[in-house]
Amino acid sequence: MSESEKSLLKVEHLKQYFPVQNGFKKTYLKAVDDISFAIKPGETLGLVGESGCGKTTVGRTLLRLYEPTGGKITFDGEVLFDSGEQYDEKGHLILGADGKPVIGNKVNKNMLPYRKEMQMVFQDPYSSLDPRMTVEDIIGEPLDVHKLYKNKAERREKILSLMELVGLNAEHAMRYAHEFSGGQRQRIGIARALAVNPKFIVCDEAVSALDVSIQAQVVNMFEELQEKLGVAYLFIAHDLLVVHHISDRIAVMYLGHMMEVAESDELNNNPIHPYTLSLLSAVPIPDPETARKSKRIILEGDVPSPLRMPTGCPFRTRCRYATEQCAAEMPPLTDRGNGHMVACWNK
Ligand SMILES: Nc1ncnc2c1ncn2[C@@H]1O[C@H](COP(=O)(O)OP(=O)(O)OP(=O)(O)O)[C@@H](O)[C@H]1O
Ligand code: SF4
Ligand SMILES: [Mg+2]
Repeated sequence: MSESEKSLLKVEHLKQYFPVQNGFKKTYLKAVDDISFAIKPGETLGLVGESGCGKTTVGRTLLRLYEPTGGKITFDGEVLFDSGEQYDEKGHLILGADGKPVIGNKVNKNMLPYRKEMQMVFQDPYSSLDPRMTVEDIIGEPLDVHKLYKNKAERREKILSLMELVGLNAEHAMRYAHEFSGGQRQRIGIARALAVNPKFIVCDEAVSALDVSIQAQVVNMFEELQEKLGVAYLFIAHDLLVVHHISDRIAVMYLGHMMEVAESDELNNNPIHPYTLSLLSAVPIPDPETARKSKRIILEGDVPSPLRMPTGCPFRTRCRYATEQCAAEMPPLTDRGNGHMVACWNK
């Protein structure tokens, strides 16, 4: 069985460059620059990194809410997008004699048949749900769009069973979204995403806006739904603690690049990349003795502007281990054992 057959989603060399005006100059903001990862059926991949590192852009590009600038996206064994660029076994773009990338087969499939399979749940349940719609309208809309019922009775039955699935009281079907609390609104948003029976959901900061106690309930619900339905998640969050709890594996991004990917416990217990170490250092440790003994790295300096990206490794302007090589070339993600992938020249 090939790697792409085992994966539900396989992303290779994905790029998302936004054209922007920088003063008088037209330039590109490289929000996602050559990242690769895979997600297995029923698996949760956590995606973490500071604000602006490109997490939402990855999610939106996968769902093709944005057209990718480059790369290849394979979903359920089907290539949905391929810009045709070729890479050698070291991950370097192959250039022709004219210095331009060699372009092979291009693929750009119509996403309509796949919209049902890939869904997204957003951060803010207040802004992503229309307050003038009832719960029944909100959950029923995707059923209408994809014509997933034979008659009105079946439509209602489906809506009520989805409400039950996410722990909402069926008697509240005719209430308006604004009458619900944040946690309940997020349940409505999830029921809406689940209405079309997807195999994959991008959960973009899906619990970040909720109180900590409610966060735990909603995270548990995501896990229970995954067990019941076998759905895979890309679970995006700033908070490493939230991501650690729900994820099978975690990917760490910095300025559009993938820095480290490992199993959730492995990443927490044995982080290798200097950026991951500093992210983990920012997580509060309740016991002062443990906190004192831990090798905390406090991040110095600001994240560079994505319009003035450092050459080579983007973390080098804040990295205490940076050497000349770091300025010359972006390190490739390499396997340090058991699929623990790290992009660093010196660690
Ligand atoms: N449509 C767009 N046009 C131009 N630039 C964009 C667009 N969307 C995002 N960006 C830029 O791309 C970079 C990545 O943004 P993105 O929203 O993906 O980050 P993020 O990791 O999700 O951040 P946050 O944690 O704040 O949600 C940022 O510099 C952002 O300003
Ligand atoms: S490649 Fe160099 S700059 Fe980048 S994280 Fe590693 S040591 Fe630091
Ligand atoms: Mg975001």
